[in-house]
Amino acid sequence: MLLGGAASCETYERPGKPDESKRSVAKAGSAKADGDPGLSGDKLNIDYDAVKAEGEKLYAVTCIGCHGPSGEGMVGIGPKLASATFLAAASDEMLVNTITSGRPGTTMAPWGATMQTKQVHALVGYLRSLAPHEPAALNESPLSGDVTRGQDVYARICSTCHGKHGAGYQESSSGTGIGRKAFLDTVSDGFMRHIIKNGKSGTKMRAFEEKAPTAVANLNDQEIEDVIAYLRSKAW
Ligand code: HEC
Ligand code: HEC
Repeated sequence: MLLGGAASCETYERPGKPDESKRSVAKAGSAKADGDPGLSGDKLNIDYDAVKAEGEKLYAVTCIGCHGPSGEGMVGIGPKLASATFLAAASDEMLVNTITSGRPGTTMAPWGATMQTKQVHALVGYLRSLAPHEPAALNESPLSGDVTRGQDVYARICSTCHGKHGAGYQESSSGTGIGRKAFLDTVSDGFMRHIIKNGKSGTKMRAFEEKAPTAVANLNDQEIEDVIAYLRSKAW
């Protein structure tokens, strides 16, 4: 079932005027996307406490319908944002890029078309307050996975909840569309490793780390490398 489509987004009030913020997704970790400090790989230095009240107001009119009143998420409609492991792994750049460019192919619209950079930063400040977390120390070493083995891991384990093609909700799955280029281009290998190992707290995405007490499956480091390599190789 396709949920809503772009049209459903039009029912949400979009604050702000269209401005200069219509930009393409900057690859995670790639510095100086377009020279704008607000969207490059540079540290954004958002003062979360100073902007979160404005962010909360924006959130209440634009995001609540799909992500829930406190970012708890609604399966099949909008993913959980109030997840400590997610927020710990997601850099400010990842959040800014996701909000600005949206997730083409899903109902997550490119809010950069109607919001100013400052408003997007305010939203990030608010999202940071949704679950206590510290930025995770991400392992960003070069990926060393085997695509064929990764395909097997994906088919056996991940496809159950993320869909055969990794389209997520669009394949009536509970997980998000992790096979999409629009998602993969905004996240680093370190983000992927962290979430697969530690899970997305508060959701059905459990920790797959070898020693994690999970009934679904335990993956060793190599299998985690393999599945990320597979997803990156077939991103669509
Ligand atoms: C019409 C529904 C809808 C609205 C409104 C909406 N989102 Fe989303 N959002 C989604 C969907 C659907 C996804 C991702 C689905 C996927 O990747 O499969 C998403 C993904 C995200 C993500 C990435 C989460 C993750 O787990 O990777 C962030 C961050 C986000 N949205 C923030 C916002 C913010 C902030 C607003 C308000 C400005 C907003 N969204 C409004 C539906 C919506
Ligand atoms: C039991 C179901 C289930 C299985 C199995 C599963 N996932 Fe998930 N996964 C989820 C759910 C549910 C979410 C979060 C959705 C939400 O927030 O609403 C998620 C989120 C994720 C995210 C974060 C995506 C984002 O949008 O930020 C990644 C990455 C991910 N899963 C990778 C994997 C990989 C790789 C596998 C296979 C090793 C896997 N998952 C297996 C259910 C599952």
